[in-house]
Amino acid sequence: MTTVLITGATAGIGAAFARKLAADHHDLVLVARDKERLDQQAAELHDRHGVEVEVLRADLAEEAGIAAVEARLGDPERPVNLLVNNAGFGNKGRYLEVPLADELRMLKVHCEAVLRLTTAATRVMRERRRGAVVNVASVAAFTARGTYGASKAWVVQFTTGVAQDLAGSGVRLMALCPGFVRTEFHERAGMGTDNVPGWLWLDADKVVAAALKDLAQGKTLSVPDPRYKALTGLMRLAPRGVMQKASSSTGRKYGPK
Ligand SMILES: NC(=O)c1ccc[n+]([C@@H]2O[C@H](COP(=O)([O-])OP(=O)(O)OC[C@H]3O[C@@H](n4cnc5c(N)ncnc54)[C@H](OP(=O)(O)O)[C@@H]3O)[C@@H](O)[C@H]2O)c1
Repeated sequence: MTTVLITGATAGIGAAFARKLAADHHDLVLVARDKERLDQQAAELHDRHGVEVEVLRADLAEEAGIAAVEARLGDPERPVNLLVNNAGFGNKGRYLEVPLADELRMLKVHCEAVLRLTTAATRVMRERRRGAVVNVASVAAFTARGTYGASKAWVVQFTTGVAQDLAGSGVRLMALCPGFVRTEFHERAGMGTDNVPGWLWLDADKVVAAALKDLAQGKTLSVPDPRYKALTGLMRLAPRGVMQKASSSTGRKYGPK
């Protein structure tokens, strides 16, 4: 039996990771802010799959929240074999419409927390000579999407770089870059998505299945689904200006404040 810690486990892609990994008989540590939802999810997964499920309420935009998860990951008595850094969110509005404090919060959750939790986990994993980290980025990493895209580009660069540094240590890292996935993400961010064509939407369970397959194959960058593999290939070839215009508007209609 191995243990997996998932941040942002109560909804969307994180909840899909929790369902799949519990079904595959892994014990879980679920991290998010909503304690009631965490407890309910833990009870359901334990009852359905017979695995041990621990909950850790933590706000990864706060120092205390990051420190609490670092401490759990650094505990050599209760090693975590797989860390999924998945917690994340979008801000409502374009640059200069979003309060600077919200942009900084995003960098704290998407970058500082990912850096610190990856470091806490991989220190222990390297000593044990085994373990893996999946950092959830986005195809937005390859597009013009302000602080969100920049934070996800950081996740991709950081993860693929660290994967090289730790090659041969028994510790693997993979950046996961999904396209549009039906979750609570867009509604929480107040984003209208009616200009996103139906064929661009992915299912969270399928994204997770593809990600875990890529991780097992030793990939350091995973772009689930052939549609997005083709699109990201096209993005590299298309003129930069055209790509920037298209990618900064798709799925980015904001409702009233
Ligand atoms: N949906 C998409 O189209 C899409 C595409 C590419 C990448 N992604 C990325 O995938 C990841 C998961 O997104 P999702 O679509 O599954 O979103 P979601 O359905 O809104 O779920 C987000 C999860 O993160 C948790 N969370 C948010 N802020 C947090 C904080 N400060 N501290 C701790 N937990 C926090 C939420 O739980 P609580 O509210 O209880 O804390 C929730 O469990 C994100 O990193 C996102 O950027 C999403």
